[in-house]
Amino acid sequence: MPLAAPNKVRVQMRKPSICALCDDASIGNAAELLHSFFQESGFPGDRASISANLRFMLADPNHWAAAAYESGKMIGVATVTTMLYVEWGRLGEVGDLYVVPEARKGGIARALVEAALAWCSDHGCSAVSVVVTERGEKEDGLGMFYDRLGFAATGRRLYSRLLKK
Ligand SMILES: CC(C)(COP(=O)(O)OP(=O)(O)OC[C@H]1O[C@@H](n2cnc3c(N)ncnc32)[C@H](O)[C@@H]1OP(=O)(O)O)[C@@H](O)C(=O)NCCC(=O)NCCS
Repeated sequence: MPLAAPNKVRVQMRKPSICALCDDASIGNAAELLHSFFQESGFPGDRASISANLRFMLADPNHWAAAAYESGKMIGVATVTTMLYVEWGRLGEVGDLYVVPEARKGGIARALVEAALAWCSDHGCSAVSVVVTERGEKEDGLGMFYDRLGFAATGRRLYSRLLKK
């Protein structure tokens, strides 16, 4: 039997099922994963607002969210929003993407992003973008990660201003 080359980590590609979030239990479960994502990434957002905003998105047909499952357990989640621009027509954006730590490096995020791209394509998007934070780039190598998934950096910077409620 051939021996594995030393120093090479064999990545076992996993085959998760990807299901759009459509019932209350799965939305609640996904909101918990998104809360873990926000905590891990240092984003603001408590459980209640994450859950309320996820439900708000899902009530609008221009948005989508799906989860990855293995052996009946939810192990990843992705959300997509779409916007209209003169430049792009309809543009999709991967808003959130999270895989639980114990399931990483097995192709789960790739499967979720491919499902997101397919949904965007079916919903008239001309392109799909994603915002990578400076911290995500420096500490987690997200630029390289999205590069592996076929995204290219645009060099544009995103500026935001909060509005008073
Ligand atoms: C980033 C994250 C979603 C990747 O999930 P994953 O399931 O481990 O990713 P995959 O196994 O599908 O990896 C897909 C490809 O990217 C590569 N990759 C994965 N994580 C990477 C990283 N941090 N840096 C560079 N490349 C990475 C993989 O090697 C694989 O490459 P290949 O298929 O060409 O060999 C996961 O680490 C995570 O949830 N992190 C915390 C949340 C986060 O940062 N989300 C992104 C917000 S924009």
